[in-house]
Amino acid sequence: MNRSETQPPFLLACHRKPTPYTPIWLMRQAGRYMKEYRALRKRYSFLEMCKTPEIATEVTLLPIKKFKVDAAIIFSDLLLPLEPMGVSLEYRKGEGPAIHPLRGEKEISRLRIFHPEESLSFLLRTIRMVRRELNGKIPLIGFSGAPFTLASYLIEGGHSTHYVMTKSLMYRNRTGWDTLMEKLSEVLARCLHAQVEAGVQAIQVFDSWVGCLSPKDYEEFVLPYSKRVIDRVKHKVPVIHFATSHATLLRLMKKAGGDVIGVDWRIEIGEAWARVGYDVGIQGNLDPAVLLGPLDLIKKEVKRILDSLKTRPGHIFNLGHGVLPNTPVKNVAALVEMVHEYSSALRINKED
Ligand code: CP3
Repeated sequence: MNRSETQPPFLLACHRKPTPYTPIWLMRQAGRYMKEYRALRKRYSFLEMCKTPEIATEVTLLPIKKFKVDAAIIFSDLLLPLEPMGVSLEYRKGEGPAIHPLRGEKEISRLRIFHPEESLSFLLRTIRMVRRELNGKIPLIGFSGAPFTLASYLIEGGHSTHYVMTKSLMYRNRTGWDTLMEKLSEVLARCLHAQVEAGVQAIQVFDSWVGCLSPKDYEEFVLPYSKRVIDRVKHKVPVIHFATSHATLLRLMKKAGGDVIGVDWRIEIGEAWARVGYDVGIQGNLDPAVLLGPLDLIKKEVKRILDSLKTRPGHIFNLGHGVLPNTPVKNVAALVEMVHEYSSALRINKED
């Protein structure tokens, strides 16, 4: 048996190798839609949960114990590297993250570049604990934000609709923008590298909000920095490069890097794959809101996505964005089963 045959389906798919069925994991597969998560959340703040390796490990493993998902993703948050950079971070109930917004060069120059081994040691300990628990059976995904998405949180102070402050700094203060993006790229590259050293077997880079940019601006202001981050871990472990509302940016995102490109539901997945080319894999793209619908709708959508890709190796099934907080657990379980069952059947029928 050669080495690749012993690899789990998720890692095979990252390398565009054939798999017995389509592997599936879900962004935000551990979260508020689970009663076990909500019970822990009553006792601890979100940051306490992220920073306590025993709790973060338990939460990472919740969806692995409940469903037959093909990968685990470390329980943490995109914004955690901001604290050791010197930015205060708060998660307010029902409102999401709140950060003191950064506007000028003076504040940018004060941002610190740190060593994750020291400042994010809790994350690296969690990774080691989770790997031990998973015992080689299920691969573990590490992650970070991409420089643009983190810059947008820093500048807007939280979530934004139009990214006016971010774009305004980008257009009006090129030096400030470049300094900020350079610092973020260095920090994020270090965070990813440390996660790989601690044992994650794949990386996902979330550029969740980059879809607000034109292709020209993406190429000029963002692509070189995302590339810098991805370059530091590529060839070590597979990298999934994810964004939303990015149909027009797909080719440029591929240029920035990634063995697999993640897509939301706003574009047909077959069309997205044709656009990026078949020399990379594709991940996605069920609308998370479909999981709020009846089981026959979920089944119809699963079939539509899988039929459209014709069992081409390199597809990782996922939602187009994270699981919504009011999603019924039984629908998530059914989705995982449906993807495994229907994608196995498609492969058997193809051999007939
Ligand atoms: O996917 C997973 O299961 C792993 C854990 C994970 C979380 N956040 C846990 C979390 C991951 C991969 C993230 C990434 C993340 N964080 C992103 C990129 C993904 C995306 O959604 O585009 C972003 C933008 C963030 C920033 C962030 N963190 C926001 C905007 C919020 C508030 C919105 C919300 O859903 O609550 C968070 C908080 C957060 N991150 C929670 C969880 C489980 C909820 C915290 C709580 O219990 O209140």
